[in-house]
Amino acid sequence: MLEKILTEENFSALDELLERYKGVPGPLMPLLQGAQDIFGAIPEEVQSYIAEKANIPLAEIYGVVTFYSQFRMVPRGDHVISVCLGTACYVKGSQNIMDKISQAMGIGIGETSSDGKFTLVGTRCIGACGLAPIVTVNDDVYGKVKESEILKILEKYK
Ligand code: FES
Repeated sequence: MLEKILTEENFSALDELLERYKGVPGPLMPLLQGAQDIFGAIPEEVQSYIAEKANIPLAEIYGVVTFYSQFRMVPRGDHVISVCLGTACYVKGSQNIMDKISQAMGIGIGETSSDGKFTLVGTRCIGACGLAPIVTVNDDVYGKVKESEILKILEKYK
């Protein structure tokens, strides 16, 4: 999956970004955010590249990437499945739905399936509690989801 993002084109966009932040004090956060926008994630290869070019210790970059939840080292899958774990959805069984997806796909929260198709995330209340439990897949919103239906819903995205 990484070969899809570690392209020459992406590295030259990163070069431009590095050029823009040359000599700017404290550039790490915007640099990493920009790198993630380009690559969709900040894997080790990208971290080392930035470390070398911007002369920033790799350990510092790794520390920031792993500390802040906004950064990820593995790109998201083609489809992002979000299960609402807010109170109303939780009470209506969203955790069971999450577990069912997790088991069927062999991935935990925040992980991406090995074929790069699906990423599973948990969200806070998205403000549609009347339709609890809610699952979204990309921009599609599914309300009053039954545990028994969820795998059928996800079939559509395979
Ligand atoms: S708790 Fe899930 S939409 Fe509000």
